[in-house]
Amino acid sequence: MGQDAYMEPLSATFYDLRCKIYVLLLGVCSALKLTVPSHTIHGIEGQPLQLLVGYHFNITVSDIQIKWMFEGSSMQAIPLLMSVNQTVVSDLEYQHKFTCTPPNASLLIKSLHFSDEGRYTVEIKIAGNERISARQNIHVTVDVPVTKPVIYTEPSAGVVEYKGNITLKCTVRNGTRVIFQWMKNGNPIEASTNYSLSANHDTLSIVPVVKEAVGNYSCLASNSVSALQSDVIMPTIYYGPYGLTVNSEKGQKIGKVFTFDKGEAIQFYCSADSNPPNTYSWIQKSENSTHVITHGRYLEVASEKMTRKAEEYRCSAYNSMTGKRDETGVFVIIGSAKMSQKGKYLSPLAIITGISVFLIISMCLLILWKKFQPCKAIQRKLQSRPETDYRKAQSISGHENALDDFGIYEFVAFPDPTGISRVSSQSDSGSGIQCQDFHGTVYEIIRKIPVQHHDQQHCT
Ligand SMILES: *[C@@H]1O[C@H](CO)[C@@H](O)[C@H](O)[C@H]1NC(C)=O
Ligand SMILES: *[C@@H]1O[C@H](CO)[C@@H](O)[C@H](O)[C@H]1NC(C)=O
Ligand SMILES: *[C@@H]1O[C@H](CO)[C@@H](O)[C@H](O)[C@H]1NC(C)=O
Ligand SMILES: *[C@@H]1O[C@H](CO)[C@@H](O)[C@H](O)[C@H]1NC(C)=O
Ligand SMILES: *[C@@H]1O[C@H](CO)[C@@H](O)[C@H](O)[C@H]1NC(C)=O
Ligand SMILES: *[C@@H]1O[C@H](CO)[C@@H](O)[C@H](O)[C@H]1NC(C)=O
Ligand SMILES: *[C@@H]1O[C@H](CO)[C@@H](O)[C@H](O)[C@H]1NC(C)=O
Ligand SMILES: *[C@@H]1O[C@H](CO)[C@@H](O)[C@H](O)[C@H]1NC(C)=O
Repeated sequence: MGQDAYMEPLSATFYDLRCKIYVLLLGVCSALKLTVPSHTIHGIEGQPLQLLVGYHFNITVSDIQIKWMFEGSSMQAIPLLMSVNQTVVSDLEYQHKFTCTPPNASLLIKSLHFSDEGRYTVEIKIAGNERISARQNIHVTVDVPVTKPVIYTEPSAGVVEYKGNITLKCTVRNGTRVIFQWMKNGNPIEASTNYSLSANHDTLSIVPVVKEAVGNYSCLASNSVSALQSDVIMPTIYYGPYGLTVNSEKGQKIGKVFTFDKGEAIQFYCSADSNPPNTYSWIQKSENSTHVITHGRYLEVASEKMTRKAEEYRCSAYNSMTGKRDETGVFVIIGSAKMSQKGKYLSPLAIITGISVFLIISMCLLILWKKFQPCKAIQRKLQSRPETDYRKAQSISGHENALDDFGIYEFVAFPDPTGISRVSSQSDSGSGIQCQDFHGTVYEIIRKIPVQHHDQQHCT
């Protein structure tokens, strides 16, 4: 391609150069121009064909000679006819076949046959002050137009997916050098893992047959003189059930749980993709037993008939051709109108928030529990100490009045668990047990009520 683009200016330059040489030698350049509209012509068998030729010269001439030659499969150039001025001399063999009316150099082939396929050469010579000649080649092909293609399907009956193969064969009654192109839903099919094509593309094999292969198939038959498309065929492919779902126009749906109001009719419909259509049945699941309630894709139960607060209904879809079955279940809850109203506004965001809050609280509780677990151990240890050490601390009863907490507190420390020694100090802040320093020193605060306790109480 790039080479052509490069070659063109080069040959033009070469032609220019040759022209200039002619000008120098003869004083003429392109005095005779011979042109053909196309170097390749596709003809139809049995039809006439015109090989158009145009020529032009700008010098005065006395004689114009036109010569047609043919080179068929034998690769031997055969002269067809020749004319000088208006006089045409045909080869005896071809005089009824070819016509030329000079000065028009075009050649008419009266009835085209396969044997006429090959290379045609026209040569024009003009004679005046100088003799100039020019020639051109035209390649002619002969074909029979295609008739409308017909597709044959093997097997003619339906095919179960993953079990059978489909072979489509495209045939044309008439037509030479036919090219076949397969199409699915109007788009060309290329050979792939699922589609294989015969050498001349007339046969398409679908292996394996899957649900995705369902579609409108057609075949385009064409050659250089014609193109026709077949009717569309839809091979029967049995598949499914796929994508079984249960839905209801009533009730509030959260996942697989449907909440119906009391008194509202429980209605469900079941659907799944399959060919041929599934047979549906509805099953009720009790604790231990299952039983078919109804056949068909619709289920209706009066909510009063529900014996329990929650019930599971299952839909079963069965494809008799593929022998496959699928089943899915829904849970039905009968709620009061208020409950269902709540359900209506229970958005997924609220559910997520609820779960998050629950998790956070759980984590907090876990942390707190872990934190105060050691405190229990200390308390146990402290409880085993002599009564006397504890007396004052235990004499404090409730906390009805903040003034009850008034007093002097003794701060008792246990530096190590083996020998419990005490360090007493006076403090007036806080009450309770310090846990943070458990690994270092353990403190206990013992409250001492001062003498003026009652006076202070009277003051307020
Ligand atoms: C004929 O035409 C060519 C160019 O096409 C030109 O070079 C030449 O001079 C012309 N000759 C005459 C006699 O007009
Ligand atoms: C062709 O016609 C020209 C004049 O138009 C004439 O001079 C010439 O002789 C003719 N050639 C033949 C072969 O008849
Ligand atoms: C030659 O004849 C054909 C048909 O007979 C016509 O189409 C064409 O225009 C003619 N060419 C010239 C140069 O007159
Ligand atoms: C389908 O084609 C595969 C491979 O071409 C072959 O092995 C298999 O036997 C074929 N099955 C049928 C049912 O024709
Ligand atoms: C197909 O070809 C046969 C002869 O081979 C011919 O009789 C018939 O008319 C053709 N049909 C069409 C539609 O061209
Ligand atoms: C081709 O076959 C594979 C399974 O072998 C399947 O998953 C895929 O959908 C098929 N593609 C088409 C276009 O049928
Ligand atoms: C196949 O063709 C039928 C009618 O001929 C049309 O109803 C259907 O939608 C087409 N299917 C596809 C996948 O184009
Ligand atoms: C279900 O079966 C278990 C034992 O398999 C039995 O104990 C229980 O009572 C049964 N429940 C009902 C509702 O039948």
